[in-house]
Amino acid sequence: MSSSNTPSSTLSPPVLKPLKLNSKLQAPTLSTLKLSTPKPASPKLTPPKLNFALGGSSSTNSAKLSSKLATPKLNLSLGETITKPSLKPAAWSPSTTPLVLVKRALETHDSMSFTFAAADQAQFDFKPGQFVTLAVNIDGKTHYRAYSISSVPQQKQLRLTIKRVPDGLVSNWLADNLTIGDSLSALNIAGQFNSTDCAHKSKLLLISAGCGITPVMSIAKTLLAHNSDADIEFLHCARDKDNVIFHDEMQTLLAQHKNFNVQLLLENSDGFASYSADVNAGNNALSHQTGMVSTDVIQQLYPDLNQRTIFLCGPVGFMKAVENIAQESDFDMANFFQESFTPAADNTQQDQISSGATETSVMLHVPDFAVEAEVIQGSLLLDALEKHGVPVIGACRAGVCGSCKCKVTKGSVKSTSTETLTADEIEQGFVLACSSTIEGDLAVALS
Ligand code: FES
Repeated sequence: MSSSNTPSSTLSPPVLKPLKLNSKLQAPTLSTLKLSTPKPASPKLTPPKLNFALGGSSSTNSAKLSSKLATPKLNLSLGETITKPSLKPAAWSPSTTPLVLVKRALETHDSMSFTFAAADQAQFDFKPGQFVTLAVNIDGKTHYRAYSISSVPQQKQLRLTIKRVPDGLVSNWLADNLTIGDSLSALNIAGQFNSTDCAHKSKLLLISAGCGITPVMSIAKTLLAHNSDADIEFLHCARDKDNVIFHDEMQTLLAQHKNFNVQLLLENSDGFASYSADVNAGNNALSHQTGMVSTDVIQQLYPDLNQRTIFLCGPVGFMKAVENIAQESDFDMANFFQESFTPAADNTQQDQISSGATETSVMLHVPDFAVEAEVIQGSLLLDALEKHGVPVIGACRAGVCGSCKCKVTKGSVKSTSTETLTADEIEQGFVLACSSTIEGDLAVALS
């Protein structure tokens, strides 16, 4: 639910381009040659030195060296070594290559990081803050779920950090069953909440709560790796220290980057006391205070709030509170980006929608799949489609990923999110099934 999706004109990461790799490769070669040669190099001698070092020859005959150097073969060979396309790993394609689990790591008692590699060793290209949709087969049925990526782009590994939730079918299954070497299919990487497309200032305030830290951590790590002039404040809210995901990783980043600052806001005062004891004992700890997010806390911690861009991710209620604080603080909401990935089994939005269900029956038609079924008026369209075997994909189940898009061809629904739909699509009757309730007799198509 990003409040603005203005494409960024400033954020492409130049250091990721092959050009830098080329210059890195050239420098050591030339430097080695100078060190191994006692005499200052004249312009004419420079090429033979290259030839000498590359060939490993022990000859001191300058004529031979010049002769060798003159061969275009050497120059071609050197150029090929530096610019060879194979130096840039191929990008992972979810439509052809499964993910293979290479590492599991417990982050807190109820959250776990899963690190995947592509089966073909391709690298993962995505925008920091985006999510990947996994296809998970449980008891013969495929379930689709979107999970935010917590690693940085253009690496050969992809990390997802997933929290268990009560009755969370897929997240709990992954935690209990997925083991090293197992493969999973994926649909795509997507998401408008990312630090590439969302134009931002060099001063940022990243705010997260609970598992909402996942995409925000990807944004922080990528910016720190490639934007040395970024000034990043990170506020993370959790119940207590034991529930802080990436606690040690944030400590490491803090030690490595002067332009990075972390503040924890801990709800539980018992946990706060124990954490304070850690600090008093001289143990490593992040700066922290107890309490809930509030206007006073935000304004006290960030007096330069209005000079920053905010990226926010967490549970729906938490995000609403932060949005209200920003508005009360006269924050320019053009610099405010947010996304909620409340787990499906704990989805307040769906609970609110479903609570409108009545006992009146209406007809649901999906001609493409020969479905003609009675459904309860007010029920969630996604639930009704799934119940009657329509292969709709509900990846986030929160109205942000767009995977459940379908077209209402007759009748109407009541929608709470049109997040990923264009004005044209809305005009044509497209809706998000996870965020729409059935108002009366309805006909639907999947495309
Ligand atoms: S399931 Fe993601 S928008 Fe509906």
